[in-house]
Amino acid sequence: MRPMQKFSTTWLGHGTFLFTTPGGKRVLVDPWLQGNPSCPAAFHKPGKIDLILVTHGHSDHIDDLLSTVRETGAPVVAIFEVCTWLGSKGVTNTVPMNKGGGVDVQGLRITMVDAKHSAGFVDNGVMVYMGEPAGFVVRLEDGLTIYIAGDTAIFGDMKLIGELYEPDVAFLPIGDRFTMGPDTAAYACGLLGVKKVVPLHWGTFGLLTGTPDAFKALLPVGVEMLALKPGETTE
Ligand code: NI
Ligand code: MN
Repeated sequence: MRPMQKFSTTWLGHGTFLFTTPGGKRVLVDPWLQGNPSCPAAFHKPGKIDLILVTHGHSDHIDDLLSTVRETGAPVVAIFEVCTWLGSKGVTNTVPMNKGGGVDVQGLRITMVDAKHSAGFVDNGVMVYMGEPAGFVVRLEDGLTIYIAGDTAIFGDMKLIGELYEPDVAFLPIGDRFTMGPDTAAYACGLLGVKKVVPLHWGTFGLLTGTPDAFKALLPVGVEMLALKPGETTE
């Protein structure tokens, strides 16, 4: 067995991330690449991908899902309705699931959890129902556990997510308007009991007013914020 490497996170802007897991898997979350104003051109084609996670079927999270699946052949983990829509496009390599359930894929333990938001996708001029939005708890090969909230309001069961899965790192939206803002996202860190947080869904366009500076100022004592620039990778 290969030795484990360090988990790394590359933010591609907005809600899109590229993770490299301790086992060397490249995991893409919410592929919004070419049309994403924050995504550096170097990442418009993400290269080799082992797994794609989709939190919900809004265009700013799945606009490049089909093209990425076709280019990489990577399996897609998403809620049932998103997988059904993918099936209607001829994509068969999906891992449909729903909230509360877990799957073991590529050596990762992936649990789908709640998110408070909406989800629909305009497909050929018609708004298609894409199931409910979700978050993911992912336990990596070395046991490190991350919580990807997706687009969401704050909700009380974040405390339950903290108790059940004890995430080490949370990926939380802070942009306000469509998701939590800095104030509620900071409060969410307390509910989750995390010590590290990566802000997302901010800075993409003018409507998203929440900033890492405002977020950091409100964080509970002892919580470290890792604010990445688009294209930047954590150490
Ligand atoms: Ni959304
Ligand atoms: Mn969004």
